Amino acid sequence: MGAKALFFFALLSFLAVSLRPAFAEDEEDPGLIMNFYRDTCPQAEDIIREQVKLLYKRHKNTAFSWLRNIFHDCAVQSCDASLLLDSTRRTLSEKETDRSFGLRNFRYLDTIKEAVERECPGVVSCADILVLSARDGIVALGGPHIPLKTGRRDGRKSRADVIEQYLPDHNESITVVLERFAAIGIDTPGGVALLGAHSVGRTHCVKLVHRLYPEVDPVLNPDHVEHMLHKCPDSIPDPKAVQYVRNDRGTPMILDNNYYRNILDNKGLLIVDHQLATDKRTKPYVKKMAKSQDYFFKEFARAITILSENNPLTGTKGEIRKQCNALHFHGSETSLLF
Ligand code: HEM
Ligand SMILES: *[C@@H]1O[C@H](CO)[C@@H](O)[C@H](O)[C@H]1NC(C)=O
Repeated sequence: MGAKALFFFALLSFLAVSLRPAFAEDEEDPGLIMNFYRDTCPQAEDIIREQVKLLYKRHKNTAFSWLRNIFHDCAVQSCDASLLLDSTRRTLSEKETDRSFGLRNFRYLDTIKEAVERECPGVVSCADILVLSARDGIVALGGPHIPLKTGRRDGRKSRADVIEQYLPDHNESITVVLERFAAIGIDTPGGVALLGAHSVGRTHCVKLVHRLYPEVDPVLNPDHVEHMLHKCPDSIPDPKAVQYVRNDRGTPMILDNNYYRNILDNKGLLIVDHQLATDKRTKPYVKKMAKSQDYFFKEFARAITILSENNPLTGTKGEIRKQCNALHFHGSETSLLF
């Protein structure tokens, strides 16, 4: 065998082993199922839950990130951890696009992945870790426990070029927002519930100043305007100063229905938040969720479940990444074969 043939032979055997699906050859692809790692990594879900708890103790805002991640990954074509990829020489990462502004704590997602890898190397996908960390982050924030399926595999491409077709901008019309949700199977009450995620976390002044300068948006509650102006004193925020307003001043660390009372009180920070409380299609649900935490949680759990099952890669599709920020096989290696 020549050196080149030998190289290909070695590469093929390597790929045959590494790309082996997580289920036996003679079984069918089960798709997403509950406790997918029961046999291959029974501790996986416990490890993730433990890590989310530990990280939350040290950095409360990690839970905000796990919750925001599931939207930014799953709503963009597929729940495939494409959000976590770094830019390469040829492709821009999703993280670096404008829609991803403010996303944080990715290095702590690596902490979770490393803990899982120590126990079961090469078995649990970043896509499942992203989804399960969101589930456990929601619990840490006082939200409902939502049983979610696993078995997702990691995507091999950045979806940065299409991200704007899937993730609405901060000032998008509610019609577009509802259309985007509907396209992935989330109905109006489901969409209203998902925006309840804005009951935690923060919004940077750059996303808000257009509502304050040159004139204050007259629909804003004057008491809230005072607070917003205090937090965002300049019409062009200093990009180096971390200036932001908390999404829910009342209970900023808790995922609860206070968000709905805020937006009915004209304290919604983003245009989309405000419109949710005023549009005739969404207002009835906003009122119902403002009154009933149970109803909010029920709809929220239903919508998160649908979101988490959006077009996953399963079976032999995609790959299992070793590190969530980089493809396991790089383009140059695999383009020889695929
Ligand atoms: C119409 C849809 C949405 C728009 C336009 C939108 C936009 C935004 C913007 C502009 C921010 C502020 C980022 C910053 O300044 O740091 C933000 C924060 C946040 N969003 Fe959304 N969002 C939407 C839907 C969602 C959904 C569906 C979820 C989760 C289910 C979510 C979860 C969050 C969380 C948790 C934060 C706070 C993040 C932090 O403090 O680190 N958002 N969103
Ligand atoms: C929304 O805000 C962006 C800046 O963040 C601006 O470029 C865009 O024109 C605005 N769109 C609408 C519909 O107002």
